[in-house]
Amino acid sequence: MQVIRCSQDMLDWPSSLKRAFVPTMGALHNGHLALLREARQECEEVVVSILVNPLQFGTDEDFASYPRTLERDLELCHEAGVDIVFCPLASDIYHPAFDTRICGGWLAKQYCGVSRPIFFEGVLTVVNILFNLVRPNRAYFGEKDFQQLFLIQKMVRDLWIPVHIVGVPVVRESNGLALSSRNAYLTREQRQEASCLYQAICTVRESVLEGEKSIDTLRKIALKQISLELDYLEFVSEISLKPIEGFVSENVRLLIAAYIGNKPRVRLIDNGIVSDSNACQLGNRSL
Ligand code: PAJ
Repeated sequence: MQVIRCSQDMLDWPSSLKRAFVPTMGALHNGHLALLREARQECEEVVVSILVNPLQFGTDEDFASYPRTLERDLELCHEAGVDIVFCPLASDIYHPAFDTRICGGWLAKQYCGVSRPIFFEGVLTVVNILFNLVRPNRAYFGEKDFQQLFLIQKMVRDLWIPVHIVGVPVVRESNGLALSSRNAYLTREQRQEASCLYQAICTVRESVLEGEKSIDTLRKIALKQISLELDYLEFVSEISLKPIEGFVSENVRLLIAAYIGNKPRVRLIDNGIVSDSNACQLGNRSL
């Protein structure tokens, strides 16, 4: 396995016929490993990036304390059969006069974009830079961050970036809690309590299956399950990511974000399909 720390070295690395790319911020867990597995199965060469990207953190957020476990991450990448780990310093990616952003349009200001106003422009900008340096044929992103996946897919289509985006289903703990590097901040009790987000999604899905279609009623059913401080809870079309009002039809996804704890106050997100879906192919989405 090759470890590349310098952006120019990554750019100079020869192109490959079928290169898979998995961008991460490290502190790797089974969710990341699912992306690596899929990449390994589908491509000749697998590149993983590890960079805690300062551009996507607000000033009051956890950039300084974000878990950094590079040695362990390198071991996990080696075991997963990764060919190249690209782990640059932020100062290597962003030169001192760096001042360009990709901002992402209306959707970047919705849902997670309300409480994290610069988050998506930080993500889209770094992903675009990483695509330029790594030059992948396919890039793998988790449905855990559904809005992020959607925005990246949209950027790729809008800007004609020559890469195929692959979405990978959410990997969860046995109690349903979606795996996240930030779960490292939680106590065992909090991990149990945090699984209420997934319980809310499952209960709503069951209610829809039993015939409940009113968004108002389904919202109340979801809120009853959630014991955490809510950031947002939205029923959206997974085709357009626009909010659904009135009644549930096909392709409805429930997006939730909530806070748990005080010191630190940890923000968790989750999402899931709550009605019949025929949009499992990213290509079916109207971006
Ligand atoms: P990070 O949170 O490290 O996640 C890297 C990738 O792993 C993302 O595509 C994310 O959706 C996926 N992932 C995380 N937890 C997952 C889970 N439980 N199941 C499935 N996939 C999961 O997302 C980022 O980093 C950054 O914003 C990044 C795209 C790297 C840009 O800096």
